[in-house]
Amino acid sequence: MLPIRNFVIISHIDHGKSTLADRLIEITGTVPKEKMRPQLLDQMELERERGITIKMAPVRMLWHAEIPISKSQFQNYILNLIDTPGHVDFSYEVSRALACVEGAVLLVDATKGIQAQTLSNFRAAQKASLKIIGAVNKIDLASANVPEVALALKNLIGSEPEKISAKTGQGIEDLLKLIVDRIPPPQENQNKTMRSLIFDSLYDEHRGVIAYVRVFDGEVKKGDKVTLLGSGVQTDVLEVGSFHPDRRLALKLSNGEIGYLVTSLKSVEQAKVGDTVAPLGATTESITGFTQPKPMVFASIFPVSSSDTPLLRKSLEKLKLNDAALQFEPTQSKAFGPGFKLGCLGLLHLEIVKERLEREFKLELIVTTPSVAYRENQEPYVKLEIVTPTDYLGAVLALINHHRGNVLKTDTISGQLLIEAQAPLAEIIIDFYDELKSVSRGYATMDYELIGYRDSDLVQLDILVAGEKVEPFSQTVHRNKLERTSRQIVERLKNLIPRHNFEVRIQAAVGSKIIASERIPPLRKDVTAKLYGGDVTRKRKLLEKQAAGKKRMKQFGRVEIPTEVFLKVLKRS
Ligand code: GTP
Repeated sequence: MLPIRNFVIISHIDHGKSTLADRLIEITGTVPKEKMRPQLLDQMELERERGITIKMAPVRMLWHAEIPISKSQFQNYILNLIDTPGHVDFSYEVSRALACVEGAVLLVDATKGIQAQTLSNFRAAQKASLKIIGAVNKIDLASANVPEVALALKNLIGSEPEKISAKTGQGIEDLLKLIVDRIPPPQENQNKTMRSLIFDSLYDEHRGVIAYVRVFDGEVKKGDKVTLLGSGVQTDVLEVGSFHPDRRLALKLSNGEIGYLVTSLKSVEQAKVGDTVAPLGATTESITGFTQPKPMVFASIFPVSSSDTPLLRKSLEKLKLNDAALQFEPTQSKAFGPGFKLGCLGLLHLEIVKERLEREFKLELIVTTPSVAYRENQEPYVKLEIVTPTDYLGAVLALINHHRGNVLKTDTISGQLLIEAQAPLAEIIIDFYDELKSVSRGYATMDYELIGYRDSDLVQLDILVAGEKVEPFSQTVHRNKLERTSRQIVERLKNLIPRHNFEVRIQAAVGSKIIASERIPPLRKDVTAKLYGGDVTRKRKLLEKQAAGKKRMKQFGRVEIPTEVFLKVLKRS
């Protein structure tokens, strides 16, 4: 077999991972030119729309170097690349990819410099003992500051980075040479008992569960009978193959290779990401190396029509096949009936889960106000890392303070400031990111990780609409924030809840004490009365619009509340 190099591309969001993956796929001729399109590996409709990578995607490329590469004298290589997502919500995907490779290309945008996730990704790659190759990207841009960014990156990783443009292709051939030269090949464990690590899995309607694996020892082929060491389930291997990037059949997968196994399993729960595949009856140890994703944000989800509850459960099960970090359990609400409590990695993750359920499974859903997991009088805290140009230091410090955070230290890094702080998770997950972007004109970046629980003075805030407590709006808040939060919620609800034929009072209360209150004035009954003359089309359109609106409403006492309000109420936009 040809020599193998397994690697990931890691970077802060938007620094060019997917574009670099495109160039590598193109240069190696993995996908014919006429079939190339930008961000080829971002196959999910949502990824393409939002321009972000959510799922990591593996691809196997064959590369023929024009001259033998110095150390090895080989000219042909198998390159297995795993493209990874950049958004902080999806960092668990990165940790899964890191466990399957020997090297990482750390990209830094030459116009932006080192950012918060550059640092966290670098540390994660270091912890996984990967060989790290630095690359300064976007050198084609007029605003690129190549020497300064290259120096900062060199200071971080300890070796001279490559200078590339993933867009024009400049420097990519040299980067490839460095990849095969510096990144070590997988260890030769051909004769050992087969062990493969599941780093992703998906459910295919026609084929069942397909496990994405990195083979660490031995080899696996069609017809093998295997067991999953973690769950203890057994399965036949119905097919093996690799990613080009479409799945392509192979005779076998040997140690060091990245590919897929079609299993005879029919249930999500049986082929968990992080489990180890081994021959049936083998006495061998599991491969470790994964950080189990920890849900940080919780929200309940209900179908608009309660007859859809079984479909929602099925859909969540299917989604979980492709999304190891998603957790859910059944719940019951007085207002909405049976539903599920979701555990997600962040707000973006929650929004994406909701959107995927609606698009891929045609469900109409209500998502309740997201919150964090409180313990009695204690709330979860995170360590925050913010990288910002010095000009915005004052504004960023004020923002941290406003969100009950405290700064631990500040450092300089490539002409910018690195601020380390601690803050309550609840303050960080909702608006913080958008606010940080706004006070720093888009320049500051952030990353965070959970560090534990702290004592807090917490109170239970209820929201009443027309005198009825609307349970899905209830939330735990810090006493210092009680008044401000109460005001904000009633004001937002005033704008989000449509007018009714009667006056609707909105109140925020702790026990029987009203903290804030607003009124929505009554509406005139006939919505078409204000239209002059006999314009039938306009009249009909208005009535149709009203009818369509009705479908996505939920009744609370006498008041109808549009279903999307429950997720929107905490967000500014
Ligand atoms: P996420 O997956 O969302 O983290 O983003 P990413 O790191 O994969 O970045 P992506 O490849 O989507 O690139 C972000 C933007 O930068 C896109 O608009 C690219 O076209 C652009 N871009 C990437 N590389 C270059 C480059 O070398 N030069 C220029 N001018 N633009 C680039």
